[in-house]
Amino acid sequence: MSTDWSRLVRPSLIGLEPYRPGASLEELRAAYGLDEIVKLNWNEGLHGPFPGVEEAVREELSRVWIYPEQAYSDLRESVAGWVGTSPERIVPGHGIQALIATVAHAFLEPGDAVVVTEPTYGLYAQASAAAGARIVSVPSVDFRHDADGLAAAAREADARLVWLCDPNNPTGSLVQQDEWERLLAGLPQRCAVVVDEAYVEYADPALRVDRVPDVENGRPLVLLRTFSKIFGLAGLRLGYAVVGEALAGFLDVVQEPFNVNRAALAAGRASLSSPQLVEERRRSNENARERLATLLLEAGCEPLPSQANFLLVRVGVNDLALTDGLARRGLLVRAGSEFGLDSFVRITTGPEPLMERVAAELAEVRAGLAKRDPVEPLET
Ligand SMILES: Cc1ncc(COP(=O)(O)O)c(C=O)c1O
Repeated sequence: MSTDWSRLVRPSLIGLEPYRPGASLEELRAAYGLDEIVKLNWNEGLHGPFPGVEEAVREELSRVWIYPEQAYSDLRESVAGWVGTSPERIVPGHGIQALIATVAHAFLEPGDAVVVTEPTYGLYAQASAAAGARIVSVPSVDFRHDADGLAAAAREADARLVWLCDPNNPTGSLVQQDEWERLLAGLPQRCAVVVDEAYVEYADPALRVDRVPDVENGRPLVLLRTFSKIFGLAGLRLGYAVVGEALAGFLDVVQEPFNVNRAALAAGRASLSSPQLVEERRRSNENARERLATLLLEAGCEPLPSQANFLLVRVGVNDLALTDGLARRGLLVRAGSEFGLDSFVRITTGPEPLMERVAAELAEVRAGLAKRDPVEPLET
């Protein structure tokens, strides 16, 4: 007789679906019969790894038989230098995704409440629900986090965690300093805020909140960052948390020892040896993003302000038909209805010539769809 696993796993897993980041390259290649596909659907860093990274990874392969003890502390030191804090506050993990699960396990008991914005990155709710938590969603206001609403919801539900993605995925919006201060000040007693800064390096340094001092000052805050985006290492899986020293100890209890591999650690260290490239990439992304926004606006779409490496765009036509039409031309973008945003698409930003192609092809496909189904009037 076959085992009924649903009776053996934790009850909180029943009814949950695995997190789905969208169709994979292979699935889409097979579905559309395409050889060449441009990936603008997962917000990877399209410029790839920094110079010297491939060599560093190759070099490290001769040591793969040794557990990465020293490499781990070396990365903590490099990251601490980059972030401007001490190595004891850095907890590496194999991507923010792994750290989200670690945080959920470290903080949540069945029945606890957590607060998230709607829409935001889906894994916070998924990991929290898997830990048995109850999800309280707070609608965004004008596609921005409602900082006061999040704090009020946390107080009302006596929440253990508030998950805050800044810049937010999928909207690209950024939290302002005063909003951040009100959110921190408004949290209930036993609540921490987890800020996922996966896209922070793309944000204008004059506009983004510097939260490292808040960590150092002992505020109830977990900061999550990644090498997957501006550093172009999504396939190697490397991220880190910046936390108070005492919390670092608790996270290390939950997280598997040495969960980051030597190749990723070497790549991370090599990336941080050219920090000036981060600013170059930020500027070039900003120019490409603004160019794409201008062209889409001229084409009659409504791009939202973004401080990340993607744009959320109101297209006013069926977003699934539009993404399908673009995929047939080898351009993968994300349908907004996957986030509950019908008639929106999310487009990863990359080199300017590519953005010009995307804008032109999107305008053509959209015009074709609008002939069949009149375009919904856009808000002005
Ligand atoms: C907001 C956000 N956090 C985390 C991740 C994943 O980060 P990592 O590759 O470090 O697991 C993504 C990936 O798209 C993201 O959008």
